[in-house]
Amino acid sequence: MEIRKAASSDIESMQQLIQQFAEIGLMLPRTVKSLCEHLQSFTVAVDNGRVIGVAGLHILWKDLAEIRSLAVEPASHGHGVGRQLVRQLVQEAEQLGIAQVLSLTYQTQFFEKLDFHVVRKESLPHKVWKDCIYCKKFYHCDEVAMVYYTRYYDRFQATKEA
Ligand SMILES: CC(C)(COP(=O)(O)OP(=O)(O)OC[C@H]1O[C@@H](n2cnc3c(N)ncnc32)[C@H](O)[C@@H]1OP(=O)(O)O)[C@@H](O)C(=O)NCCC(=O)NCCS
Repeated sequence: MEIRKAASSDIESMQQLIQQFAEIGLMLPRTVKSLCEHLQSFTVAVDNGRVIGVAGLHILWKDLAEIRSLAVEPASHGHGVGRQLVRQLVQEAEQLGIAQVLSLTYQTQFFEKLDFHVVRKESLPHKVWKDCIYCKKFYHCDEVAMVYYTRYYDRFQATKEA
């Protein structure tokens, strides 16, 4: 299995993967247009030439990035694919000097295993909620906000307090 940046030829598979979970309310759907526009932010897991997992890193602010559209095909669940995708995105955020990586999720146990911590949604900046207007759960969002603190976190806090 290979973890690599997404390519244009992956878009159809990425959309299908996301769509099956969007249909059961686990994530927002993605149009081909939106996948094209944000292609550079996506990473895929590929097994024998087939896309079996996808995840995107969306930069929200200087100190904050969000993991979006994380999906692993059901047949590959429990084999470490999700973990590798998230680790890759966290590494990418660190390479960009970002202090916090956010996930809005129902998969709290999965993210806890990857050292994410539950935070109060009210503690997050307003820009996090910009795309929530597209979600049918806008008025009764029950996703949990979880954050991973990268090695830049202490440095960022010190700058803020100085
Ligand atoms: C959540 C998801 C990405 C996890 O992917 P995965 O490849 O099955 O996860 P991994 O095999 O890497 O799991 C890593 C660890 O988390 C655990 N884990 C994974 N999913 C879990 C779950 N739903 N509940 C509890 N633990 C879970 C695994 O058992 C493993 O634990 P271990 O380190 O003790 O072995 C996958 O289940 C999925 O695509 N779900 C549907 C879409 C979704 O909800 N996406 C998240 C949107 S934020």
